[in-house]
Amino acid sequence: MTANKNPSTGIPTPTSASARDIATSGQATAAAEQAVPSWDDIGRAVVIGGGSGMGRAIAAALVAAGSRVTIVGRSEERLARAVRELRSAAVGAAASADADAASGHTVVHSAAAVPAGPTTGGGEVDWMVADIGDEVRAARLFEQIGPVDHVISTAADVGGAYGPIGEFDFAAGRGFLDTKLIGSMLVAKYARVRAGGSLTFTSGIAAYRPAAGGAMVAAVNGALESLAYALAVELGPTRVNVVSPGWVRTSIWDRLGWPDKEQRLAAMAGRLPAGRLGTPEDIAAAVLSLLRNPFVTGTVLHVDGGHRLV
Ligand SMILES: NC(=O)c1ccc[n+]([C@@H]2O[C@H](COP(=O)([O-])OP(=O)(O)OC[C@H]3O[C@@H](n4cnc5c(N)ncnc54)[C@H](OP(=O)(O)O)[C@@H]3O)[C@@H](O)[C@H]2O)c1
Repeated sequence: MTANKNPSTGIPTPTSASARDIATSGQATAAAEQAVPSWDDIGRAVVIGGGSGMGRAIAAALVAAGSRVTIVGRSEERLARAVRELRSAAVGAAASADADAASGHTVVHSAAAVPAGPTTGGGEVDWMVADIGDEVRAARLFEQIGPVDHVISTAADVGGAYGPIGEFDFAAGRGFLDTKLIGSMLVAKYARVRAGGSLTFTSGIAAYRPAAGGAMVAAVNGALESLAYALAVELGPTRVNVVSPGWVRTSIWDRLGWPDKEQRLAAMAGRLPAGRLGTPEDIAAAVLSLLRNPFVTGTVLHVDGGHRLV
C-alpha cells in the first residue's frame, strides 16, 4: 500500500481501497458506476448485524425504499432466514400495491418461489457471512462487496459483556469490544464508500445511564461515539453518524439470561417519558433519516424514548 501525505497535517493517508479514497478520488468511479444518491435514492447499502433485531428492521426499511442491501452476520442460517422473510415481505407489499393499483389484478408469489435477486418491492437483499471484528474477514467482505453508498452496523456480541469489574472475564467479554468498536473501525478502514455516502454506527443508552456490571458496555458505547466524531473529520465528505438506542425489544435481551426479564422491561417502559420501549422500526426510521440527510455528520441521534432524562 502506498501513502499520500495530508497537506495540512503531513500525516500519511492510505491510498488503498479505503472510505477516504473512494470519497476523494472516486469522482470518476462514482460517475461511472452511479450518480451521487439523492435524498430519495439511498442506493447500495450494507447492514452489518442485519440478520436480526434493529439491523433486520433497517434492512427491511432500505428494501422498501428501493435500496440494494447486503446483510452481514456470523450465522448463515439466521441471515438466510432474514433474507427469505425480507424478500417475501417486499413481494407481499408489492403484491398488495399491485392489487390496489390494478384493482382486482393481484400478482401473488409464494416465498419459496422468490428467486435470489431483485424483489418486486423495488429493493434487493442478499447476505454475506463475516465476523466484522476479524480484520482479515472484514477486509475480504468489503473487497467482495465493492463500492457502496452506505454502511450501517448494529453488530454487537453481548455474550460475557456484563459483569462486575472485579470479576470481569476479559476473554469472555471482549467480543463486545471487538465487534462493536474494533468492528466499526474495520468498517471505516475497508468499506469502499462512494461520494455522497455514509457510515452509521449503533451505540446505546448505557453510555449515558450505565448500570452496575455494565462497564464494558458503557465504555464501548461511549468510545464508539467518540470514534464517529473523529471519523467524521477524517473521512469527510463521507458522513459518519451514530444512533444511540434506548431499550428496544429485540432478542438481545434473551441473551442476558435475566429470569425476570419481562418485569424489568415493563418497569423500564413505565419509567420512560415515551411510555413504552422502543421498536426496531423506531431505530430503522432514525437510521434512514441520517442516510437521507446529506448535511448531517458527526452526530449522535438519541432514539431512547427520553431515557436520558429519567
Ligand atoms: N436492544 C436494545 O435494547 C439495545 C439498547 C441499546 C443499544 N443496543 C445496541 O443496538 C445494536 C443492535 O442490537 P439488537 O438489539 O438489534 O441486537 P441483535 O438482535 O442481537 O443484533 C445483533 C446482530 O449483530 C450480529 N453480530 C454480532 N456479532 C457480530 C460480528 N462479530 N460480526 C458480524 N455480525 C455480528 C448478530 O448476528 P450473528 O450472531 O449471526 O453474528 C446479530 O444479528 C447493538 O449494537 C446493541 O448493543 C441495543
